Amino acid sequence: MEKEKGVLFVVFGATGNLTKKKLIPGIYNLVKRKGIKKFKILGIARRPSSGHKIAMSGKKHIDGKIDSSAFSNVLANTHYVQMDFSESIDYVKLQQRIQKYESDGFANKVFYLATGSDKFEVISSNLKKIGVTKEKKCWTRVVYEKPFGKNLKSAKKLNACIHKIFDEKQIYRIDHYLGKELVENVLVLRFTNRVLEPVWNKYHVESISVVLDENVGIGERGAYYDSYGAVLDMVQNHMLQLLSLVTMEMPESFSGDFIQNKKAELLKNVRITKTLVGQYKGYTSESGIPKNSKTETFAAHLLKIKNPRWNGVPIYFRTGKFLGKKESKIVINFKPVKCLFDKTCPSNGNSLEIRLFPNPGIELILNSKSPGKQAARNIKMDFCYDCEYGPNTPEGYENLFKDILLGNQTTFTREDELFNSWKIVDKVSRGKLHKYSKKSTGPKALEKFNKNSGVRLA
Ligand code: BG6
Repeated sequence: MEKEKGVLFVVFGATGNLTKKKLIPGIYNLVKRKGIKKFKILGIARRPSSGHKIAMSGKKHIDGKIDSSAFSNVLANTHYVQMDFSESIDYVKLQQRIQKYESDGFANKVFYLATGSDKFEVISSNLKKIGVTKEKKCWTRVVYEKPFGKNLKSAKKLNACIHKIFDEKQIYRIDHYLGKELVENVLVLRFTNRVLEPVWNKYHVESISVVLDENVGIGERGAYYDSYGAVLDMVQNHMLQLLSLVTMEMPESFSGDFIQNKKAELLKNVRITKTLVGQYKGYTSESGIPKNSKTETFAAHLLKIKNPRWNGVPIYFRTGKFLGKKESKIVINFKPVKCLFDKTCPSNGNSLEIRLFPNPGIELILNSKSPGKQAARNIKMDFCYDCEYGPNTPEGYENLFKDILLGNQTTFTREDELFNSWKIVDKVSRGKLHKYSKKSTGPKALEKFNKNSGVRLA
């Protein structure tokens, strides 16, 4: 019998935020749930560090009670190589380490580029030079963090470059929102419930909103954030991906390329028609931010989809840093019904909320008779995810790591989806930058923007 092959995770950008906050906890969860048994993590970055430090910095970000045996396993198998991504000579050290792991049985490889996309080309071509990208009696997969490029032109150029090195089947363009349980649930909710699918269109839906509000600032990521801003950091990827799942046509199947085909097709028809951008007060005093920075930390958009299913339905996006609370949700508002009471009518139509954070779940607002009165009022049917499945359901990165190991690309962004979403955000005209106070609901001008949006906002 063939011995089980081990997996080597090579993480570029190992001393960064993402590695400690998401990647180490994601791999730990996978280990805890026995999703992976034989593995090594090789962290790579320019600063001095060690495998021990990398694993311990991730420990602080693990939710809930730590399973000591799973964490010890992660700790014992995390190692580090200090090198400069741009120095070809440094890759010789890496080649030797990888060859050693290969001979110890860790032949399958995941190269995780948790770096800015300006480093993707140099890292990928150096990996090719040292001969570790080939799939000889093993598989090799490469994960590129978002945002992939800075606009359509740079994304295409980068994509063409990495295609000289890797086949599309080896490339995983990650968007961690696609690994969130509630997001993976969107298609199941839409397409396995006969009570929903027939009304999921312009005849019954009044408006759609996607809100990803955050209550934290940019942390230690000043240099990255300032050259991207909210539109490229959140809208180009997470928000358009969520919209495409909520509004795409039915796929032939939930497997293979079918979902990506439908998402890419949908994105071709999306336009951003109105934008309001803001910047929280104090942003330009943060470390790494130029005093005169005009980068937006807040963005609200109105969008439309030009296709037979959605023509005329207003769509609203909102995201921002340092707002009053963290809230991530998708809301589908349905049109109100004809009034059949003599006097009081239900004021609103139904609405369905897919809540990613806090309290992940699904909430349906219906109308029901008020006791003792000839009137209707809203009632709420609430599905609480954690109550049903426990608080420790898999987290985004854990699900995505599992998919990478299985070779399942359905939860990743294919090149045509990527290009279509860049086409949408490349056309965004930002206009005036509105300042807003930290912990507020956003710029003052948002009130008018919301009022004129035609979207029912809670
Ligand atoms: C990341 C962005 O992709 O998503 C961050 O770069 C943002 O700026 C984060 O804070 C939000 O993710 P989550 O899962 O915490 O909502």
